Amino acid sequence: MKKDILTLAELETSDFTLLFDRAAELKARYKNGIADRPLVGKSVGLIFDKPSTRTRISFETAAIQLGATPIFISSGDTQMARNEPIEDTARVLSRYLDGIAFRTFSQDLIEQFAASADIPVINALTDKYHPCQILSDLLTVIEHKGACKGLNVAWIGDGNNMAHSWINAAAVLGFSLSLACPKDYAPDKDVLALAHEKNTAISVTTDPLTAAQDADVINTDVWASMGQEKEQVERQKAFAPYQVNSLLLDVADKDVIVMHCLPAHRGEEITADVLEGSQSVVWDQAENKMHMHKAILDILL
Ligand code: CP
Ligand code: NVA
Repeated sequence: MKKDILTLAELETSDFTLLFDRAAELKARYKNGIADRPLVGKSVGLIFDKPSTRTRISFETAAIQLGATPIFISSGDTQMARNEPIEDTARVLSRYLDGIAFRTFSQDLIEQFAASADIPVINALTDKYHPCQILSDLLTVIEHKGACKGLNVAWIGDGNNMAHSWINAAAVLGFSLSLACPKDYAPDKDVLALAHEKNTAISVTTDPLTAAQDADVINTDVWASMGQEKEQVERQKAFAPYQVNSLLLDVADKDVIVMHCLPAHRGEEITADVLEGSQSVVWDQAENKMHMHKAILDILL
């Protein structure tokens, strides 16, 4: 049966382990100049309804390195823009392609698409989740910290798509996750409630210092996500106390690593000195998207 990655809540611990191990293996082999081409003859569609630098290009290079052909599909140039039913698009594309990565607004839409597709569908970001980002971020955590079990992870900022996928991952993998979000920007209650059934060490506070206390990993993201541009000014006010800066790092573990999925807004959610500082692993994170996307394509296709 085909397997999708639409949220991390559907994955088992063994799925995470398989993806981390395969990504690490493919990365090491690539660094040693070994070309792995298990997907020769296959085609991967990349449907994007929102802009992307990292996810698009790392999926494209991942596919090319594995021998597959990526086909970038700007949905505005397809009949989707003229209201062709999503189910029909999914059924037709399933006849041409071997897998699809889809970046869109609505989580319901990608789930509808996946239900009608006969090929693996990979969530490349929706308003609600960004699962592939957290998979590659966890690969980065494992590289720097050895494992994610036993770690204190802090999330500072918006209870957004990134936060939701971190919550999903903490539920399955059992690490401690403390989120500091402004009152009106807390994570989705249902996402939290489902996660609490598996892991009670997931907490939400409005105080960034409480969340960052003794943290091994500090994470942040933009204050206004794609599609929320009109809310930028009011969000800047609400999020001003939630900046990742040197004062916040002072209360964390001395070996804390700082993560940001990028793009970053220096001087807003993170200061330039922290983003560029010795504890920042953001460039490793960006690189690991390609290695993780290779593992995802290799395993699902
Ligand atoms: N981190 C991330 O998803 O970046 P892009 O929006 O550039 O793909
Ligand atoms: N939360 C951000 C992530 C960007 C990679 C957004 O959705 O725009």
